[in-house]
Amino acid sequence: MGLKLFPLGELEGPMNKNIAVILGDGIGPEVTQQSIKVLDAIGRQFKHTFRYDYVLMGAAAIDKTGNPLPDETVAACKKNDAVLFGAVGHPKYDNDPSAKVRPEQGLMKIRKELNLFANIRPVTTYSALHHLSPLKNARLEDVDFVIFRELIGGIYFGKKELSEDKNLASDDCVYHRSEIERVAHLAFKYAQKRRKLLTLVDKANVLETSRLWRKVVQEIAPLYPSVVVSYMYAGIAAMQLITNPKQFDVILTENMMGDIFSDEASVLTGSLGLLPSASVGDKLAMFEPIHGSYPQATGKNIANPMGSILATGLMLEYFKMYEEAALVKEAVEWNIANGFVTKDIDPINNYSTSTIGELVTDYVENKIPSKMNKENMVISKSTII
Ligand code: IPM
Ligand code: MG
Repeated sequence: MGLKLFPLGELEGPMNKNIAVILGDGIGPEVTQQSIKVLDAIGRQFKHTFRYDYVLMGAAAIDKTGNPLPDETVAACKKNDAVLFGAVGHPKYDNDPSAKVRPEQGLMKIRKELNLFANIRPVTTYSALHHLSPLKNARLEDVDFVIFRELIGGIYFGKKELSEDKNLASDDCVYHRSEIERVAHLAFKYAQKRRKLLTLVDKANVLETSRLWRKVVQEIAPLYPSVVVSYMYAGIAAMQLITNPKQFDVILTENMMGDIFSDEASVLTGSLGLLPSASVGDKLAMFEPIHGSYPQATGKNIANPMGSILATGLMLEYFKMYEEAALVKEAVEWNIANGFVTKDIDPINNYSTSTIGELVTDYVENKIPSKMNKENMVISKSTII
């Protein structure tokens, strides 16, 4: 870990933190439950108290209230210290373009309501998982970058129109300089604490909004003299992410490009199930895995909970619980390195969602000797589980 995502600060002893929990749809509940186990273990180890306020969003909310984001959910989130979120989405809405309410509307709306303007997605690779990536090993070593995606502007939130005869549709892409500035400052500040490289990914050869992004970033850059800024067209970035990913440190980009590039980047790690994300605003932050609701796996206890658990680690950093956050990350890494993984990672020798949750929890509580080596792993596999 070492590189802190959020501003540094000292933690003064045991803390009480209230967390709004949105289990959501599909595998959202089962992966988030593992994160809660891990959080409770952190609480026991470090004498913190975490309280959970369960609220509805997505298809689960539509089923109960008709609304993908009930007002009570927004109100509850605002009252808590952070939001832990699973996933939203349900197949019954996916193939119905005429559906008026959709689970994803809840996610769009909560981002806007809580003013979560920056979505931060760290991408790391694990040597034990290099074989899962279609890329050659040498390209994967030392990959460590973070995508800063603007989250509440651009084409996602622009005016949407469909002509009366339904043959013409448009989505406006709009950015005000203030929307660019706030996320750019965050990205620059973070780059200062890392390898000091910031790459703005855009389409400035075609889009007016991209030219505004470049202008604003160029204006801000002198405030961060230690950071080297480069500008890359989206098409080149799409290729470079695959051919030479280790060149990147902090990638800054607008909403839709950030969505696409973070999915592309997950291929480097080996499984979409491993990537966490933090969505931050000026007052509140929400933590979630980047994967979706994965309906086919719902209720089967096979989904990978590590993305959610790592997102919980980011939440601990946000609470300035750095030692705690590092321990969670170490616990996940230990499980990966020792083959305690779900089916997406190892189709033959794999463990259930809840077992992985328990193993991470056991590691956090020092119930697993961390110095175990490969030879006694076989024994430990059968004794632990
Ligand atoms: C994400 C997701 C969402 C997005 C979907 C579910 C609306 O893909 O968080 O990346 O596009 O932002
Ligand atoms: Mg996405």
